[in-house]
Amino acid sequence: MDPAALAVRYRAVRACSLALAAPLSAEDAMVQSMPDASPAKWHLAHTTWFFERFVLARHPDYRAVEPRWDALFNSYYQSVGPMHARPRRGLLSRPSLDEVRDYRETVDARIARRFEAGDFDEAAMQVLLLGTHHEQQHQELLLTDIKHALWCNPLTPAYRTDLPCLQAVATPLRWTTHAESIVEVGADAWPLAQAFAYDNESPRHRMLVAAHALAQRPVSNAEFRAFIDDGGYRDPALWLSDGWDRVQADGWSRPLYWDDDGEREFTLGGWRAIDPHAPVCHLGYYEADAFARWAGARLPTEFEWERAAAGQRLDGNLLDAGVLHPRAAAGGDAQWFGDVWEWTASAYAAYPGFRPLPGSLGEYNGKFMCGSFVLRGGSCATPRDHLRASYRNFFAPSARWQFSGLRLARDAA
Ligand SMILES: [Fe+2]
Repeated sequence: MDPAALAVRYRAVRACSLALAAPLSAEDAMVQSMPDASPAKWHLAHTTWFFERFVLARHPDYRAVEPRWDALFNSYYQSVGPMHARPRRGLLSRPSLDEVRDYRETVDARIARRFEAGDFDEAAMQVLLLGTHHEQQHQELLLTDIKHALWCNPLTPAYRTDLPCLQAVATPLRWTTHAESIVEVGADAWPLAQAFAYDNESPRHRMLVAAHALAQRPVSNAEFRAFIDDGGYRDPALWLSDGWDRVQADGWSRPLYWDDDGEREFTLGGWRAIDPHAPVCHLGYYEADAFARWAGARLPTEFEWERAAAGQRLDGNLLDAGVLHPRAAAGGDAQWFGDVWEWTASAYAAYPGFRPLPGSLGEYNGKFMCGSFVLRGGSCATPRDHLRASYRNFFAPSARWQFSGLRLARDAA
């Protein structure tokens, strides 16, 4: 690995997190609106802790910036030590946001000194690279978490008032058919020899994929509105049992951020008229599955998705575009990457031959392989250089606060 290129990437990723937090006041940055979401301040601190704990502390003489913070910013690494309870992250009025910014600066300076000294061996650089991707995951979470927090505030303030509002006309739904075939999916196992991938994408392996057809764009708001108007949220025959229980218990009747009338939706830019052409967003797996059933289709498997997306240009309405909301693609772009994460029918499980990373970092992905479904493709809040076709995002089927939508699939006749 080229240390100079890694140092450049490290600095760019760290600067991006600060830029994403810049529109937030100290009060905004402390809010935790639900147990699944974390305060922006915690994201800024935890991503820093990751570098301190897993890179700097590899050195036996390392002294922590503030040892008392170790448990505060440990997310879920049981083998590292105790941790502050996730639902109580919003209680951390100390350290202050300024102190967390200072913490970031201190750790960045220590990392920079180690780079300059040529101190990082290949193994340390691989963990550093992992840390930058970890931080990019948290950048997306910072945005989805603050969106939820601001929506929970009765004043529903915008995260930013200067976001562009891009609109285009969605292309008519087209289907592309794929013959039955054995396809290669996934990425090479660690240690990294090629481009970065998480351990949960490996090993690369072969899969038999039956003949099927895939929609050439995600489902639009107008199409989802037809499901609502047809009584989709009131017909138990369309829903998985667990999903129907959630519809009843939580009173679901529309995507998470739509208003009562289905006219406006809350965005990071504040309330806006719902664009009928844009991909529908903020659906859980249960809603995506019910919609697909109503439409006479199904969700794609993650392998059908990967086969179609592999080799496609990795571009689209991603974080780098600065739009921060899904939009219809002009010119019939299939939108494999960006706009919305696409729920797949695939349970998040280990690939055959999966080996978690050695040591504490083995807790990063593998222990969550139960009770979640895989999402593919990336969203308007995902950094472009964080993605690849084999990327496996995963969330519980009831999770709705991510930029999550769907693309339809069906069995070939
Ligand atoms: Fe994390």
